[in-house]
This record gives sequence, C-alpha cells and structure tokens, in this order.
Amino acid sequence: MRNVLEIVEDADKYRSSVINLQASENVISPAVRRAIASDFASRYSHLENGVNDYGGTKYAEELENAVAEKARILFGFSHAETRTLSGHIAAMTVLAALVKRGESIMKMPESVGGYTGYSNAYLPRMMGFKAYDIPVDANGFIDYNGLEKQAEYIKPKMIVLGQSIFVKSYDLSRIREICDRHSCIIGYDASHVMGLIAGKQFQRDIKKADVVFGSTHKTFFGPQGGLILTDNEGMFKRIEENVTWRTMDNYNIARMAGVGVAIEEMIKYGQDYAQRVIKNSRTLAEAINGKIRVKHDPWFTESHQILLDGEWLKSQGYDYVKFSKTMESNGIVVDRIGRIGTAEITRMGVDDMSEIASMIIDAFEGTDVKDRVNKFVRNMKMRYYES
Ligand SMILES: Cc1ncc(COP(=O)(O)O)c(C=O)c1O
Repeated sequence: MRNVLEIVEDADKYRSSVINLQASENVISPAVRRAIASDFASRYSHLENGVNDYGGTKYAEELENAVAEKARILFGFSHAETRTLSGHIAAMTVLAALVKRGESIMKMPESVGGYTGYSNAYLPRMMGFKAYDIPVDANGFIDYNGLEKQAEYIKPKMIVLGQSIFVKSYDLSRIREICDRHSCIIGYDASHVMGLIAGKQFQRDIKKADVVFGSTHKTFFGPQGGLILTDNEGMFKRIEENVTWRTMDNYNIARMAGVGVAIEEMIKYGQDYAQRVIKNSRTLAEAINGKIRVKHDPWFTESHQILLDGEWLKSQGYDYVKFSKTMESNGIVVDRIGRIGTAEITRMGVDDMSEIASMIIDAFEGTDVKDRVNKFVRNMKMRYYES
C-alpha cells in the first residue's frame, strides 16, 4: 500500500494537469492554503456568551469575530454564522432552528436539479418534517401561480430555494409576496452561487430572502465550509443555538481562517470575477452549441453553469457518464450529470473560451486533444489573490 502523502502529491499533480470544468468546484489561493495548514488546524475554541471553555484562544476568538464581520461586510447582512463545516451542515443547522417536527417545507424538485438532501429520504426524514416539491413549468422553472396555490394548501414553514443545477435567478419578489401571505420563511440555499451573489451578479435582490446559506467552495473562493446569513435577529439566535453541541462540536478553526481569507479575496475581486464567470459560461455555451447541444438556447445561462442536453446526447450514443469519461480521457474534467462550470477556469485566468470550446468539441468527435490540453494548462495562472 502506498504512503498517504504520495497519494496526496499525485492527486495535486493530476488536478493541476487537467482543465477542471466541474460546476461544484474551485481552486484555493496560496493564502487560503496557508490558513488551512496553520496551527489553528488542531486547536479548539468554544466561545459562547463571552466565555471560552478552552485556553490559548486569544487569536481564535479574534479570528471568529473578524471572519463574521468580514462576511457581514461582503454580503450586507447584519448577522453571519461562519462556523458550519459545509453547505449541507449549514442547511441542517438552519432547518433544525426554524422548522419543527411535523411541519413542512417546499423545495425544488430533484428532477430539475433540486438538492437531494432536501428530499424526504434525507434531511426531512432525519429531522421529522415533510418536504413537498415546488411546482415547475415545462422548462423546469418555478410555476409561481402553482406555488401560490400549493402554499395555501401545504402551509410550508419554509420555502427552500436554490439548486444544484442552477442557471437562473428566481423571482424573489413574487416568492416574498407568497411567503408574506402564507407566513412562510424564505430559505435560500446559495451553495452553488455564493461567489456570484458575493460578486453581485446573481440574484441581486437576495436580501428578500429571510435566511441565506450554503457552501464556501463552489463559486466562492474558500476551502470547503458553510455560511449562514440573515438580517433577522430572532432567527439568528435560534440558528446559533443549533451550532455548538447540536450540529457540530469543533468547527475546524483553520478551515474558518481559510474561509476568512477567501472572504477578503471576494471583497476585493468578487465583482470582476463573477462577471467574467458568467460571461465565460455563456460564451462557452454559444461556442459549443452548434456541435454539442446545450439547454436553454439562446440565453443558456445566467450563472457559472451550462447544462448539456441529455436527450440530444443520447441520440448521439452518449450519456452524461460517457461524455464525462470521454472528456477526462483527454484531460478535461466535467461531472457526470451534464453540468459544465466555468468558476475554476475563470479563477485560473481564462477569459477566452474559444480554445476550450474547440477542445471539447474535438474530444467529443473523437480527436485526441491531450497535448493541446497540456499546453493550455501550462499557460493558466491563478488570479484574484494577494501573494
Ligand atoms: C444546492 C446544494 N446545497 C447543498 C449542497 C451541499 O454542500 P456541501 O457539499 O458544501 O455540504 C450542495 C452540494 O453540491 C448543493 O448543490
């Protein structure tokens, strides 16, 4: 059996030799790496009501306050919880605080890219509530009139927005009206689009949601982690009560330090980055659509992702898995559910999509593009951080 560090080094080498187009992933800067590998990585700090159960925590306490303050500045919410270990745990913490056993939520159907964790078999069953699908139209977007009717009948405690396949902002004003009329909470899972929201290029009216939560590492610049944001003091108190000793004990202080550095990078570069990510995804869709069909032609996307047309791929003898394996054998990494994402390549300095589009098309049509990928990767250079 090999040494673990050899595996780690091989993984590092492999991932820096390919073009990564997975919509759920990103790269972290050297500064974030430094933070997550710091001494904080093996320390404890439990700061509750001004009292800490541990000693030696002077800097951990300063860090916790600083990261929360920077998150409030970046997103413009008056409360920020930065300790949760992932997007899923952020969601679980919010749901545990705001939805009681026996109550219901409405969430986006899995069939249109809603997050699997909100399906009845997962968080709802574990936490004793029931989940219903938000009705959608033929294109997979929310049917707002249908939602209004069903909300009257289901009386959900929370409407959980956000998706894993996520190309378009919601009509949040309309959902706000529905929730005001039917006394529900708007929970917005921004896992996929946290960096685009931070850069003010997606769901610009995000403050109409009651509580926003999600991952720190998809379009955001962080290491893996979770964020929770709200203006509602009462909700925030209940959320805070569900962190220590409920959803977590230690919160991986070094990870939070990494998130803090990522927040600083976002404050400085987020707008430029998010604009370029969205432009890149749309340009990429336009460039490949003549040869590989992309959904939602002609606008394709308003986010970091584009979605391949699975039916059309089938007609060409492909499915998403075969497409992904074909790409990876050429050094291009995409997921196995048909999404192509531009967050990481944008962070890696790529602004011109023409060569990437050409390599995807050629690989799809059976030409070996490994050498072109190698050359392309050698010219990529990470940006948006302080060295
Ligand atoms: C919409 C959505 N919510 C939550 C999660 C879970 O995020 P994490 O992996 O950070 O726990 C995901 C993961 O892909 C997601 O797509």
